[in-house]
Amino acid sequence: MIEEIATMEKVDFDRIVDIAKRRGIIYQSSEIYGGISGFFDYGPVGFLLKEKLVSSWREFFLRPEENVFEVETCTIMPEQVFKASGHLKDFIDPSTQCRKCNSIFRADNLVEDATGQFVEGADASELSKMISDKQIRCPKCGGELGDVKVFHLMLGTNVGPVEGNIAYLRPETAQGIFVNFRNILVSTRAKLPFGVAQVGTSYRNEISPRQWLMRLREFRQMEIEMFIDPRKIDYCPNFERFSNVKLRILSREAQKMNGEPAEFTAEEAAKIMPKYQAYFMAKELLWYSSLGVPEEAIRFRHMLPKETPHYSKGNFDMEIKYDFGWKEVVGNAYRTDFDLKTHMESSGKDLTFAEDGEKVLPHVIEPSFGIDRTVYAVLLYCYRDDGRGWEWFAFPPGIAPYLCAVLPLVSKDGIPEKAREIYSMLRHEFDALFDQSGSIGRRYARCDEIGVPFCITIDYRTLEDDTVTIRNRDDCSQVRAGKKDLVVTLRKLMAGQIPFSAAGDRVV
Ligand code: GAP
Repeated sequence: MIEEIATMEKVDFDRIVDIAKRRGIIYQSSEIYGGISGFFDYGPVGFLLKEKLVSSWREFFLRPEENVFEVETCTIMPEQVFKASGHLKDFIDPSTQCRKCNSIFRADNLVEDATGQFVEGADASELSKMISDKQIRCPKCGGELGDVKVFHLMLGTNVGPVEGNIAYLRPETAQGIFVNFRNILVSTRAKLPFGVAQVGTSYRNEISPRQWLMRLREFRQMEIEMFIDPRKIDYCPNFERFSNVKLRILSREAQKMNGEPAEFTAEEAAKIMPKYQAYFMAKELLWYSSLGVPEEAIRFRHMLPKETPHYSKGNFDMEIKYDFGWKEVVGNAYRTDFDLKTHMESSGKDLTFAEDGEKVLPHVIEPSFGIDRTVYAVLLYCYRDDGRGWEWFAFPPGIAPYLCAVLPLVSKDGIPEKAREIYSMLRHEFDALFDQSGSIGRRYARCDEIGVPFCITIDYRTLEDDTVTIRNRDDCSQVRAGKKDLVVTLRKLMAGQIPFSAAGDRVV
């Protein structure tokens, strides 16, 4: 597996971007007008992949919890929200402008690219000094770069016809949860600990969007704000189930010495962080592994103090090894009572929780998942180019955009009609495709390219005995199975409850 990760660096990522466009996974947004960088659209196949990832996340992270509620809040919020949350003051990135061609760059990225040194969180004067010491020039024209300045990352707008009614597009879904804390508490009558989750779009006016889905200006998040009692920081009811999961954690000390992550069980990790934080990290590892990302390509990095977000007492971010290097995909923050406290002070509303005759301000543990970066990782690790004659995606069946395709072997003798009958039965149960154009080999190739796990072929024998062949995308083997059992068989295959060989009689 280590070799497999090493070869990730050799994957020609442009080929993944190309197939993603050709096969309807990801398009540049507004492409016919040239597009704007940092904006991408999901096509018909990409939309299904993204939706299945979100459903899988809900099943794994939300459904097993008795006390997690999901909400959907507005993406535009008044200025006061972000004054209180600290985003107006602290949500900034360093930028530098070329004195010759006027191009603007994110200064820390430029320094990182030029020196290979990790400098996220360095302040403007440190970065200015690095740019001048290392004689870093404009990557576009070679011109001299100006002093590093701070750049605000929120996208603003004016609401209604009256000037001065400033609002912002939210930079995280979390704020919609914090400002609704009181409402949610009253309507659910939840007791601590309880969680509020939200899936939705966030916006950041990134200076230099890059690496495809990695740094976007409009992106999607899945966040859980777990409200816990600060007096019971070590209470996490379902922890035992995951206490033995092994986590590779890159400590701050190891980062200073360019060292490697050390292995901790979740139980051990819970000694250096709140128990809920270790609990979510263990589940994140298991979930991303189930999506096809190898465990060795996953680590948790204790963020250095200067890069830790203003609201967090400590972040252990989950990083994945992408084709270009390690990058955060889940932010794991211990937000303490920072947000509830600032919103309480700013709004004048009581956001405390009354328990045992005492008023407490809950603390928050937050796992914040980037959907687009998850899609990127899944495309990267499921991509295969293994001499089949075409590229394909080995999506796990549970998240494959289409679970199956129905293919009539020939276009005559009643076979297409029979195929349509089977297709209409299957598409009531699963996302299924129907394809009757071109040779059967070409149709298998097209299905592989969008990662369809099972192709169901209808042939002359189907007309005689109501059996079909099922082809396994991963090794091209085939079995023959009865039409009457098809739905149940596919459901079991999707859930990984049976191996493919048990789906029918092997076709030789
Ligand atoms: N509520 C906390 C929060 O938003 P974050 O670490 O800034 O924390 C969480 O973001 C996740 O959102 C990241 O790990 C990443 O997956 C995703 N994300 C953040 N900025 C992004 C961007 N510009 N483009 C794509 N995904 C982004």
